[in-house]
Amino acid sequence: MEKREQLYSGKAKSVFATDEQDHLVILFRNDTSAFDGQKVEQLERKGMVNNKFNAFIMEKLEAAGIPTHFEGLLSDVESQVKRLEMIPVECVVRNVAAGSICRRLGIEEGRELNPPTFELFLKNDALHDPMINEYHIRSFGWAKAEDVEKMKALTFKVNDVLKQLFLDAGMILVDYKLEFGLFHGELLLGDEFSPDGCRIWDRDTREKLDKDRFRQDLGNVIESYELVGRRLGISFD
Ligand code: TMP
Ligand code: ASP
Repeated sequence: MEKREQLYSGKAKSVFATDEQDHLVILFRNDTSAFDGQKVEQLERKGMVNNKFNAFIMEKLEAAGIPTHFEGLLSDVESQVKRLEMIPVECVVRNVAAGSICRRLGIEEGRELNPPTFELFLKNDALHDPMINEYHIRSFGWAKAEDVEKMKALTFKVNDVLKQLFLDAGMILVDYKLEFGLFHGELLLGDEFSPDGCRIWDRDTREKLDKDRFRQDLGNVIESYELVGRRLGISFD
C-alpha cells in the first residue's frame, strides 16, 4: 500500500489517501490541543505514544468483538485504517464525574456515576461541541436510528472491556469519547483511543494521568501518557 495525498488535517492527526480506495493512513502528530483548539502546543513523543497506545487499545477491542477501523501500525507515528464515512457525533461515557458534567450540572468532581452516563455531542469546534440527543441525530440526518442504537451499545461494550483493563493495571477509567463511522454501510469504531480523549486516574492516589494534565497545566503530560501505557504493558521503545 502506498501513501498518497493528505485528505484532512485535524488538531492532532492528519489523514492521507492511499493507492487503495478503502484504506487510509492516519498520522499522529505531536500537536496537543484543548478547549476546541484555543490552547495548542507541541509535545515531544506524543505522536508516537498515542499511535502505539491507540493500536494496543484497538486490538484489545477487536479481540473483545468490537468492530474497529484499525488495521495495523505502519511506523512509529502512522497507522493503517479502513476509510469510514464518519458520523459527526461524539459518544461519551462517564464512570466518574469530571470535566464538563461538573460545570453543567454542579456535580462535584470524583463522584461515582452508577449507572455510568451516556452523552452525545455534535462534533463542531466553532459551536464548542454542543450536547445533542438522538432526536437531533435523526432529524438532521447525521445517522440512522439503528446506527445510533448500535453506537450506544458499542460505547457501553467498550466500557466493560476497558474499565476492567485499566483497573487491573491500577487505574480508573473516568470517562472517554468515541467516534464511529460507516464502512460500506457497517458501523465501525473510528478515530482513536488515547489519553487525549479520555480521563484516567491512578486508582489509589487519584492522580490525573490524561490530557487534563495539559488542560490544567499540571506538567509531565507525555510522561503520564507513557506511564499509563507501560502499566498496560505497552512498549514505547
Ligand atoms: P468533557 O468532560 O469535556 O465533556 O469530556 C468528556 C470526555 O470526552 C473527556 O475524556 C474528553 C473527551 N472529549 C474529547 O476527547 N474531545 C472532545 O471534543 C470532547 C467534547 C470530549
Ligand atoms: N479535543 C478538544 C480540543 O482540542 C477538546 C479538549 O480536549 O479539550 O480542543
